[in-house]
Amino acid sequence: MSYLGFILPIINSYKGMKNVSVLEIGIDQGHSCFPIIHNLTWMCEDFKYSGIDVKLNMGVINAVDQMCNVASQRRKDNPNVNLYQANSLTILPLMVKENNKFDIIFLDGDHNYFTVCNELRHIENLCNPWTIIVCDDYHGRYAEKDLFYSERDEYSSLRVNENNIAEKLDNGNYAIDPNKATPRIQIHEDGKLKEGVKIAVNEFIVRNPGWKIRAWAKTEEMSESSSGDRYEPIVLYLGDHISVTNDSENMIQFVSKVSRERFIND
Ligand SMILES: C[S@@+](CC[C@H](N)C(=O)[O-])C[C@H]1O[C@@H](n2cnc3c(N)ncnc32)[C@H](O)[C@@H]1O
Repeated sequence: MSYLGFILPIINSYKGMKNVSVLEIGIDQGHSCFPIIHNLTWMCEDFKYSGIDVKLNMGVINAVDQMCNVASQRRKDNPNVNLYQANSLTILPLMVKENNKFDIIFLDGDHNYFTVCNELRHIENLCNPWTIIVCDDYHGRYAEKDLFYSERDEYSSLRVNENNIAEKLDNGNYAIDPNKATPRIQIHEDGKLKEGVKIAVNEFIVRNPGWKIRAWAKTEEMSESSSGDRYEPIVLYLGDHISVTNDSENMIQFVSKVSRERFIND
């Protein structure tokens, strides 16, 4: 489910705005990428969508190529949709180097402490003051335990080596291959294992004074869902006061407020 139920109201909050810039990490079958791009083409005057996945689905690339008002990277000089097949931990620093900034960042890639912690370290430098980060699984299945996609059978060709064992560089940092999924890397602090998305997000908040966890909620659609999996996204925002709510309406009102701020800064 991820943040799927929030895509329409979130993008709707940016309706009529120019040059709305969206980053999504984790595309998979395109269940979130398609409605995000669709809504951007209909609701925003101009937009840029950048999507990253370590295992980019050809079907998604081909489908996006067939969308009206989409100039994808394969066809046009000035694309409004860029789909990157890469490990987020290697492409995000390149985006930082190019001084890319995004208005909305959807974070839904590998669901483990090491990855989310490092993704958020790069994302810190990809934000405008009004940027919101919509982050999956703060309360979900991998809130407090690690998932590494490299351990799934379908990712066996994307392993860094036969045993999927992490290697270190001379400087002591873990080697991350741009074309491979991240092997299990687990971090201990004070003898305690750090696992899951939640602690990585909490550390981001501590590291970045001003950033708040503004909301988490289920939409009505999510509450009615028969699925046992209820992934609830959270929205991070660089704000000056805290308001945490479990009411989805409040969250959408909040996103609308942030997007208006962005409009003023346009
Ligand atoms: C939960 S799925 C994304 C779901 C999608 N956002 C949706 O709502 O349908 C996670 C995706 O992250 C990708 N992924 C895993 N590790 C990654 C990494 N280090 N960099 C980029 N993508 C990664 C996987 O290939 C997978 O397609």
